[in-house]
Amino acid sequence: MKVLGVLGSPRVGGNSDILLDQALAGAKGAGAEVDKVLLCQAKISGCLDCTKCNEAGVCAIQDDMQTLYPKILEADAIIHSVPVYFWAMTAQMKAYLDRWCALFDAEWRWHKAYWPQMKGKRIGLITLCGDANVATADPIVHSFKNTCEFTGLHLIGVVRASASARGEIAGNEAAKKEAYDLGKKAAQKE
Ligand SMILES: Cc1cc2nc3c(=O)[nH]c(=O)nc-3n(C[C@H](O)[C@H](O)[C@H](O)COP(=O)(O)O)c2cc1C
Repeated sequence: MKVLGVLGSPRVGGNSDILLDQALAGAKGAGAEVDKVLLCQAKISGCLDCTKCNEAGVCAIQDDMQTLYPKILEADAIIHSVPVYFWAMTAQMKAYLDRWCALFDAEWRWHKAYWPQMKGKRIGLITLCGDANVATADPIVHSFKNTCEFTGLHLIGVVRASASARGEIAGNEAAKKEAYDLGKKAAQKE
């Protein structure tokens, strides 16, 4: 069982990172092999809609996303952790997500070669916002929920938490437990 954590915050050691580590600890505790990617340390351009991927499912952009595609395919579950930036996900997370485009054909069906690995893949989402009202993160939840529904992925859970200063979330035991449990769930086949 492989669980991949994807950090969408540029603040390494920040709130999203702390909760992602909790989730990965939960997954590891449940017996999974875990891996973590810091998008802010990767060079990932946005999708160019060049359509070159439509035939073979191979993205034409030669950047760090090329090393991420195999990780996405091989993971049994992927947990994304991202803060709200202006009522949306960060640029790092959006660029990564848009590049999933290469995994689909022109009709937005999974490329045949990828479908066996992607079918029902478990997806988790952790969001952080400065606003005390965690519903501020709902546009990000909406984006992941719809992407999963549209593509046949399985959104296993969403953790929404509020924190502002770097590392502030470390004092929120309830949010840490929620993230840990999400990781545990990611490591378990239903
Ligand atoms: C550029 C920028 C935009 C932000 N926009 C919002 C926002 O629209 N709503 C909100 O509640 N918090 C907003 N925040 C606050 C962050 O979501 C919050 O500080 C979060 O805890 C950061 O998580 P991190 O430590 O993982 O980076 C913004 C922060 C930055 C730097």
